[in-house]
Parts: sequence; C-alpha cells; structure tokens
Amino acid sequence: RQSYNLTPADLYNLSAKFTEDEKETQFRSYLINISWALSMDASIKELTATKICVTSQGTVRHFECVRCSYTEKFRSQTTAGNQRWQFHYTGFPVEPVTNYYIHAYNLPPANIYEDSSSKTLFLISPGCNDHVMKYSKSCIEEGKFNICIL
Ligand SMILES: *[C@@H]1O[C@H](CO)[C@@H](O)[C@H](O)[C@H]1NC(C)=O
Repeated sequence: RQSYNLTPADLYNLSAKFTEDEKETQFRSYLINISWALSMDASIKELTATKICVTSQGTVRHFECVRCSYTEKFRSQTTAGNQRWQFHYTGFPVEPVTNYYIHAYNLPPANIYEDSSSKTLFLISPGCNDHVMKYSKSCIEEGKFNICIL
C-alpha cells in the first residue's frame, strides 16, 4: 500500500436520490443519482478521483464500486462561477425494498493511521406499490402487479 505526503480533503457533502431510468424498455426502473461537492481547500490539487461503493441488501446482497476520475488537475478551489465543484453519477440499478449503503471517498486515500475521509449514506428503495417500481421487472415477474392490456 502506497503512502502519500498529501492527500485530498474529505468530500464536502454527499447526497443520493432515486431517479427514473430514462432508457426505453418494456419495464420501468430507478437508478441511484449520487451527487457530491468538493471541499474548498488547497488539497484539491492532490485529488485524482472519487470512489463510490454501493452495498445493497435485499433478497440478494450485492457490492459494486465506480471510480470517477478527474481527467485534469484542479487549478482552483472553486468553479468559474465561484461555486464549489459539484459532480453527480447516475447508475446502480435499484430493486424493490432494498437497503443501499453508499460509501464515497476521495483518492488518493488517507494514509493508514490517519483519519479516513469518507462519507456514508443510507437509502431504502420503495416497494411494488410505488408508481414507478410497480412496472419494474422484479415486481412484474413476482406477480405483485400485473400489466393488463385491454
Ligand atoms: C442528478 O442529480 C444532479 C444534482 O442534483 C442533477 O443536476 C441531475 O440532473 C440529476 N440527474 C438525473 C438523471 O436525475
């Protein structure tokens, strides 16, 4: 495990919500839209990527991570409009009545024995009575809701 002299600050904030997947299929579904903002300090120069991991616990347990790499070095702590740098990632398919633990941290990571700089969120998805979820593949296949064609 590599050690770094300087590591980026923690994420300023992390939030997540369910958003409907706009892909045209016979089913409907949600994805998780995860947003974060960066801390306004000089350590932003060390930041190379943000890693986001999602553990889901429903009928099955699943673990998946994405790494969002910043393709250029940050030259300033704020955007041209003097705002915090803000990003979002929409992914991670959503199943009904499932717990989602979302864990995000900046890279390079804090060194061992230093405070780990991560943020964690918890979300629970709606069940098959939800206006979108009831048209999901899982809800229809489980027969909890039927599409009736006249
Ligand atoms: C995800 O959230 C961000 C920030 O709140 C928003 O700007 C964006 O439009 C959202 N994307 C989707 C697909 O909902």
